Amino acid sequence: KDNILTLADGNRMPQEGFGLYKVDGQEMMDRAIAKAYDEGYRLFDTAQLYGNEQAVGNAFQSLAIPRDNIFVTTKVAEENQGYERAIASVKESLHKLKMDYVDLLLVHWPIERSFFDTWRAFEAMKKEGLTKSIGVSNYQMIHLQYLATQATEMPVVDQIELHPLLTQKPLLKFNSDHQIVTQAWSPLGRGAILKEPVLQEIAVAHGKSTAQVILRWHLQNGVSFIPKSIHEERIAQNTDIYDFELTDREMTKIDALNAYHRTGREPELVYEYNKQY
Ligand code: A2P
Repeated sequence: KDNILTLADGNRMPQEGFGLYKVDGQEMMDRAIAKAYDEGYRLFDTAQLYGNEQAVGNAFQSLAIPRDNIFVTTKVAEENQGYERAIASVKESLHKLKMDYVDLLLVHWPIERSFFDTWRAFEAMKKEGLTKSIGVSNYQMIHLQYLATQATEMPVVDQIELHPLLTQKPLLKFNSDHQIVTQAWSPLGRGAILKEPVLQEIAVAHGKSTAQVILRWHLQNGVSFIPKSIHEERIAQNTDIYDFELTDREMTKIDALNAYHRTGREPELVYEYNKQY
């Protein structure tokens, strides 16, 4: 339960976190965060785009949790990319969260416009202490290679859609070769694979649910993952994965479910860079 990953910048991040996408309304937020904290989740993942940073801030304030007990991630929305805008938007996010800093700040999606200006703003915000670590989300290899042509510091995390129907093995290898921690969003494939027979068979063998089998697969792959649920029993279940182990054969069987299936959108290409290769 206390699996901690060390990032390339030396900061530490819990391997498992709690996703806050679609946790809406103050009452739902309060209940979800209280239950998740109680169950031992310490990483909480929000975004400007989710429209719930204020509710997240209120929830932590009413729980009176010491700031350094939790690890908070937010993400800069596409409309806020660009040097000045990114910084102004993060100040606004911190105001809503009622925090002096976030632990991890991510560029939510790669877009060609302001690609480098946004990243320069991230490097500056880390220096200024608005965030402890900087990273990206939905970046594929090409985006990371493009970023490397101008970045002073590289992202320490790449948060991507990752689940048994979209295993992204080449990107996982690229990231680990470059000291970038891969973090899975929609680790359960938005629930689309929970009835998959291969997973059901493995789940029965271990006396666990298919959701637990998938999360255990992420854990054993060494990636970070942030399941979301608004149901208390599922919030508990999703972090009750530390008392069993999948065999190599089971891991391989799950890998074989890859179907290149995205539940979300395809990351945009950076044409300027593409032209050169
Ligand atoms: P709910 O919030 O109603 O529990 P992902 O994290 O891959 O995006 O998937 C989240 C989806 O899976 C949500 O719709 C969530 O619904 C559902 N979910 C989360 N945990 C479980 C679980 N342990 N069993 C079944 N469904 C789950």
